Amino acid sequence: MQSVAKGFSTQVVHAGEQRDNHYHSLTTPIVQTALYVFRDTADMIDYQEQIMTRGEADREEYGRYGNPTVQAVERKLVALEGGEAALLFATGMCAVTSTLLTLLSASDHLVLTSDCYRRTRQFCQTFLKRLGIATTLVPPGDYAAMEAAVQPNTRLIFSESPTNPYLRVLDLPRAVDIARRNNLILIVDSTFATPINQRPVEFGVDLVIHSATKYLGGHNDLLAGAVIGPRELVAEIKKSRGVLGGITGPQDAYLLLRGLKTLALRVQRHNENGMRVAQFLEGHPKVRRVYYPGLSSHPDYAVAQEQMTGFGGVVSFEIEGDLESTGTFIDALCLPYIGPSLGGVESLVEQVALQSYYELTTEQRRQAGISNELVRYALGIEDTDDLIADLEQALEKI
Ligand SMILES: Cc1ncc(COP(=O)(O)O)c(C=O)c1O
Repeated sequence: MQSVAKGFSTQVVHAGEQRDNHYHSLTTPIVQTALYVFRDTADMIDYQEQIMTRGEADREEYGRYGNPTVQAVERKLVALEGGEAALLFATGMCAVTSTLLTLLSASDHLVLTSDCYRRTRQFCQTFLKRLGIATTLVPPGDYAAMEAAVQPNTRLIFSESPTNPYLRVLDLPRAVDIARRNNLILIVDSTFATPINQRPVEFGVDLVIHSATKYLGGHNDLLAGAVIGPRELVAEIKKSRGVLGGITGPQDAYLLLRGLKTLALRVQRHNENGMRVAQFLEGHPKVRRVYYPGLSSHPDYAVAQEQMTGFGGVVSFEIEGDLESTGTFIDALCLPYIGPSLGGVESLVEQVALQSYYELTTEQRRQAGISNELVRYALGIEDTDDLIADLEQALEKI
């Protein structure tokens, strides 16, 4: 879009959209097709020649390689994150796995911060391990451990920021420095932040990943993932997407495009809800500890103040109680749904031990750093006072 429009509320609405759509449609059409056809043999040869000479063509051939609705989202994400190119995937995990499979080969090694989405850790420690790719887990916030973990065969560092579920914030300049000095690719899963609260590319991060299922989509009604970064790296990952087959469908891409238009407004409310609920919980005698990077009690408060403009809608906290009373508290809440996601308009709550670590014993959970009393509350965009009143009455029940 033209350079007059710089603000995020403007960008989320207009960036990536074409003003001259088919049938004079204001909205980007859902191009619901599996393939794209050629007028005649000469037309097809013209396409092949474009691919041979430029590596890309100005039209599509097959739906696994690209789709105009998907591309509109990719253009919008480039504008929001400040990268050069973006790719959309069927899920956040598909974005994570396709990216790592593109960048890593047998005998390579990666460094992963340990507080992260459990499936990302599982992928590295089981799937990649089977392919002869080793992972070293380092605690979030320990940059000496991060540097010490680097080996001659290390190719990349992967970290969430903020992390799941403890909202640890990666010190982006420090991590970028370690990556640069060791010639590594730095990948940040910025799902919890969104480009409204944090833009890792501006700090020198190479690739930004999102589970677009969360804030970017924002309505708990689609699954998608995204990778944003430099043109050459993204082009490599795009080739893998064509082979691995994880492109988003056009209907989900349209829903994502629609959701993105309200991202700035929604995140503003998520931020307000997150901050006020975190403050309320921190002052409550039945709450043992609150994890929210906007609170001065959080270990990464100073880092978050430096590199984030808001702290999001996820607040993790521990109840004064045990496994059962934490469940009683959750059941007494009236507003949030019980479920394992975040970033949508509806508030969601989960008792982490039971939702994500059910098969483990209490001791195994403790070793994984998860207490039975840990609650992850993903605040929606409801009225803050209603959310606090609901928490207040539920805490009275235990
Ligand atoms: C930080 C983070 N990254 C990636 C994912 C995976 O995304 P998806 O569920 O869209 O595959 C999640 C899902 O919860 C997540 O929280």
